[in-house]
Amino acid sequence: MQELQLSIPYRRLSYDELDDRRRRLVDLARRYTHNAYAPYSHFSVGAAIALDNGEVVCGANQENAAFPSGTCAERSACFSAGARFPEAKFEAVAIAARGTDGHELRHPVAPCGACRQALLEYEGRAGHDVEVILVGSEEIYVLPSIRSLLPFAFTELG
Ligand code: THU
Repeated sequence: MQELQLSIPYRRLSYDELDDRRRRLVDLARRYTHNAYAPYSHFSVGAAIALDNGEVVCGANQENAAFPSGTCAERSACFSAGARFPEAKFEAVAIAARGTDGHELRHPVAPCGACRQALLEYEGRAGHDVEVILVGSEEIYVLPSIRSLLPFAFTELG
């Protein structure tokens, strides 16, 4: 019997400690929370994805009266990036959210399981790690890759 352990490396930073490239991505994720269509949950999420062609593709959650028909900000951004720039590789993704009180969450928001799975596919397509920036108003987490957020992921059909 072997007892094993996984750990997730991440850095905790303030907005002021970010370089310009990351700051721009954070600014866009925050801005896109205002593009959410969230009349049911009143929870607004924005995502910004930097591509290796210099483009940044953003998304926001889009809800639907038939709840499962809506989608999260991360998937709205990554499917849009995949559709618009099929040859481009993902470099980094930033995610921000505003809660039901309309204010940005103080602590970083983390993507749901389905979005982790969807994003992981694009990390595979990129062939390199895709940095994840989780944004809160008081602190920001920077993770080295999407796979670090989804251990034991399902990645291919046998
Ligand atoms: N949501 C996202 O956009 N991203 C996540 O990772 C978690 C949740 C959205 C879905 C729904 O519109 C609202 O937040 C409440 O769950």
